[in-house]
Amino acid sequence: MSRYALLLAPSANRVYADQASRLAVAELAAFGSVLSSDISDADVTVLGGVEYLTFTGALSERDISYLSNLSSAYALFEQVDDLLRPLTLTPLARYDSDLITIPKYAGKTNEQFTKLVLNLTLLASASAERMLDGHLTVLDPLCGRGTTLNQALMYGYDGVGVEIDGKDVEAYKLFLQTWLKRKRLKHTAELVPVRRQGKRAARRLEVTMAASKDDHKAGAVQKITVLQADTTQLEGLLRGGVADILVADLPYGVAHGSYDDEGGITRRPLDLLERAVPGWLPLLRPGAAIGLSWNTKVAKRELAEDILLANGLALVPQAPLEHRVDQGIERDVLIARKTG
Ligand SMILES: C[S@@+](CC[C@H](N)C(=O)[O-])C[C@H]1O[C@@H](n2cnc3c(N)ncnc32)[C@H](O)[C@@H]1O
Repeated sequence: MSRYALLLAPSANRVYADQASRLAVAELAAFGSVLSSDISDADVTVLGGVEYLTFTGALSERDISYLSNLSSAYALFEQVDDLLRPLTLTPLARYDSDLITIPKYAGKTNEQFTKLVLNLTLLASASAERMLDGHLTVLDPLCGRGTTLNQALMYGYDGVGVEIDGKDVEAYKLFLQTWLKRKRLKHTAELVPVRRQGKRAARRLEVTMAASKDDHKAGAVQKITVLQADTTQLEGLLRGGVADILVADLPYGVAHGSYDDEGGITRRPLDLLERAVPGWLPLLRPGAAIGLSWNTKVAKRELAEDILLANGLALVPQAPLEHRVDQGIERDVLIARKTG
């Protein structure tokens, strides 16, 4: 058994209003589902004046590869007497990190938080052990300008998004195309109309890309599909069983509301959830997991849980993840699993 010390990214406490270590402890516990042996005694320890997340375990190389993807991981050390021995982190990073960090816009979900929710969801799903080597598909049915989809690309996965706002879909297309051109990566990107029962029902952004010329030649391409449509009316628009996990940041009910049937704004993200979940479920493979975040100031946790339970999902318990974002937003996370 060894004692390990994980240094958290300096940005983490800005994201979580000084709650970064508590969230990292919760995320570390979730990684337990894939590690080769148990980790214990996770704690925050000050070493040489700097805070570390310390824990006891016997990490194999593969365990370190898994933990390298912890959303706030910066550096990992093994404690040897009163010295720290550096262990090399090997995060999944198919592309340069500016794919994730460049986009900045009002209503963006923080990228580190998005990675946290994606990790927790993946680790609760039947695909957890394929995290490092699997070609998985991540669905974000409220995808905005693609923070979740970009994280999926980084991990080497495919992404499927749904977004009602055409301006967001167009902005995401423009960002990806510009970024891919600048990196000189082979790709295609087109926005095409989609018909349902003969009528124009939506638009679909289709992007294919490869991380290198060799990957492109070998056909190792990644795909992003974004449907510009109402997420509560997806019937017939997406293939069933397309996704291994679903990750979504619900409208906050503050500046960024959810659209109601009349195209206006509603302050009730749970109404949206209630109407959307039945249509999301058929898109998920058996054993898929759902990870949702939302503002508890406008929607109580128990009510969100009730919606998931009423749709036959099993809640996956987590250590407390609620945290303050700003004056109007207290954010929480719910993870559930499709049983059938
Ligand atoms: C909190 S934002 C998600 C932001 C996204 N994670 C990002 O970083 O860009 C919620 C998104 O849901 C979209 N939305 C709200 N109601 C919707 C609906 N009925 N169908 C599809 N998208 C919807 C909003 O336009 C908004 O982009």
